[in-house]
Amino acid sequence: MRYNSLPWDRPGRYILVKDRETGFYHSLSWAPTLDRPYQRYECAHGQGYTRITTECQGLKGVLTYFVPRTATAEVWRVALTNTSAAPRTLEIYAFVELLMGNALNDLINQPNDKHFPEVAFDDEHLCLVASRRYWVLNRGVTVKQPNVDWPYRLYFTNSLPLTGFDGSLDAFIGRWRSEANPIAVTTGRMGGTEITAGDPIAALQSMVTLEPQATQEFVVVMALAPKTAGVPEFLQDRGHLVPWSDRQLQELTAYWDRYLRALVVTTPDRDVNRSLSIWNPYQAAVTFEMARNSGYYHGGLLFGTGLRDRFQDILGVLIAAPERVRPRLRDALRYQFADGSTLHNFFRLTGSGEKTNHSDTPLWIPFGVMAYLKETADLDFLQETVPFYDGGESTVGDRLRRALDYSLGQLGPNGLPRIHKGDWNDTLDYIGPEGHGETVWGACFLAYILRETFPLWAWLQEEATLQRYQTAYTQLQQAVNERCWDGEWYLRAFRDDGSAVGSHRDRQGQLFLNAQSWAILAGIAPPARAQQAIAACRERLLTPYGMQIVAPAYREVEPNTGLISRCVPGKKENGAVFNHASSWFVLAALTAGETELAWEVYRRMLPANSAQDRDRYEVEPYVFAEYVTSPEHPTQGQASHSWLTGTAVWMLRIGVDGFLGLQPELDGLRLAPRLPAAWPEVAVQRRFRGKTLQVQIRGSGPVSAFTVNGERVAGNLLRVTDFVDEVLTVTVGP
Ligand code: NOJ
Repeated sequence: MRYNSLPWDRPGRYILVKDRETGFYHSLSWAPTLDRPYQRYECAHGQGYTRITTECQGLKGVLTYFVPRTATAEVWRVALTNTSAAPRTLEIYAFVELLMGNALNDLINQPNDKHFPEVAFDDEHLCLVASRRYWVLNRGVTVKQPNVDWPYRLYFTNSLPLTGFDGSLDAFIGRWRSEANPIAVTTGRMGGTEITAGDPIAALQSMVTLEPQATQEFVVVMALAPKTAGVPEFLQDRGHLVPWSDRQLQELTAYWDRYLRALVVTTPDRDVNRSLSIWNPYQAAVTFEMARNSGYYHGGLLFGTGLRDRFQDILGVLIAAPERVRPRLRDALRYQFADGSTLHNFFRLTGSGEKTNHSDTPLWIPFGVMAYLKETADLDFLQETVPFYDGGESTVGDRLRRALDYSLGQLGPNGLPRIHKGDWNDTLDYIGPEGHGETVWGACFLAYILRETFPLWAWLQEEATLQRYQTAYTQLQQAVNERCWDGEWYLRAFRDDGSAVGSHRDRQGQLFLNAQSWAILAGIAPPARAQQAIAACRERLLTPYGMQIVAPAYREVEPNTGLISRCVPGKKENGAVFNHASSWFVLAALTAGETELAWEVYRRMLPANSAQDRDRYEVEPYVFAEYVTSPEHPTQGQASHSWLTGTAVWMLRIGVDGFLGLQPELDGLRLAPRLPAAWPEVAVQRRFRGKTLQVQIRGSGPVSAFTVNGERVAGNLLRVTDFVDEVLTVTVGP
């Protein structure tokens, strides 16, 4: 498929149906024929599939798109019913435009890229076979042309008998036409073109006669296989393609059902239940798998995968599939250097990447590893050996220390981490180009991570390490409280020249959300300051969709602050409701005991709520978007970067660990529910260390005892290893 077919669905995966008698044709998915008299159009997204149902001129189409779990293929499963009173003779066209290889090259150097594709018809297996003889991988911009083959073949077939094909875009569409009225469809005559250069497509024609109320089932399959492997097995028996595809869909939905059973949440709020039990874990799993690759929103072609994102994305799959996290962490650790620093991003296919010197990136290593250890207690992982990016190797445990020590070695004149090219906020990128500027958020984050590791050093009886990090924590706490309090909130950063960012003295960019949230999350803010900071955020940053990341937004460019001031006010990091950051505020409010405020913000951020005005919101109303435009811009309420956002994993964990209070620790699950008043009682099913927990929580407040399978346990720590049963019924509260 060619890249970036959104938002217009051009090019797309099309099935056109033409009535031979009248010559009328329409698409079973609306695009590209568009203005047809549909009596019904319905698009349903499920876990792993999308189903489009249409009714048009006496034909009902049910078209299900999915990618099977166990075959490298894309399946378009169709049921076509004649709902009219007369028999119909129909021409069916399955069409897709091919890229194969490198999307960036296709976008910027297409004339050159056109010299390498080939499409031919395989008479024996009755499918189109496409490939190319040249592959450009992302190794940075260079004029050197790699001597590399694209090592795959793409197969395209329809289970129906075939009556024609085309491999050439020009031949299929024809001159002065578009996908909306291809010459082949209009005339009913396919060109039978095979190409060895040009614009590759896969287009197939079939004929079907349908009696009234009769249904024709068929399946279009696009499969990929290594050149060395030949035609995939499932394409060799065309007669069985339909039942094969049905089995694949069943397996796919069964997979997601199983996956989602790891966490089932029942609160009095239907939207929360739907989010925490279905869409939020699903989004987190998709983000873990795919969303950081090349796609519509993400410059995966340009930027590769961000290392900090990589270490956060694991949070979302830990509950359902902890076994998948260990290899993921091992893989990501390869991008750390021996001095503890890291690449900022990497390309999976080449292993290359960039060292940008963002100040926070190395710290996400201990963040991710600690999250894994807390879920699994798999302390053996610390002994595993992983290579450094610049040669040599050391254990995972050692890598944590190196990341922390590297960051502690970067402290600047105020005792805060130097910001260098930015911190979590990529757009604060010109605060410290000379290496003197410092990040207040970064100090809080470093303190938070240090504190996260304390139980580990204690567990491992590494007294000296523990003490060293405790001292560093206290010093950061002092530095932030002594030098970074602005009167009502914490500052955000200091520039190279020592001037402050995020002060009430500034005309713009006065109050930054993250510095407040993380001062609280790190335990740095004394209670009175925490309350003051929260009050300031509530007063200045709360919007109908969640928390604005900064206010007032920058309206004038500040070259010594960075890209943030070049973003449109109210969008992106320049004052949007940046959901990722907004979620941290929810957690901070919870931590500070402001449960109702936390719930109010959480509730507003749920897609079901922030997307209430669908036309304004514009993107999928069932997954979190990275940001929603704030009232500082006329398009307020418009969302962007759906799927691709750390928001997914944080909202999931804030829901489960925060409100419901099921908090993994090295020695068990801490029970610390903080239920909003609207939830007198909740039930949760959660998988934890091989057991299924069925937890009933009534009321809120500190837990001093609970029951497990009817047995009373004192305290609030559930040590699952104390119980032999596989299913534990846990009751918290009266
Ligand atoms: C997008 C990046 O993927 C994420 O890592 C970053 O923290 C945000 N931008 C905020 O700038």
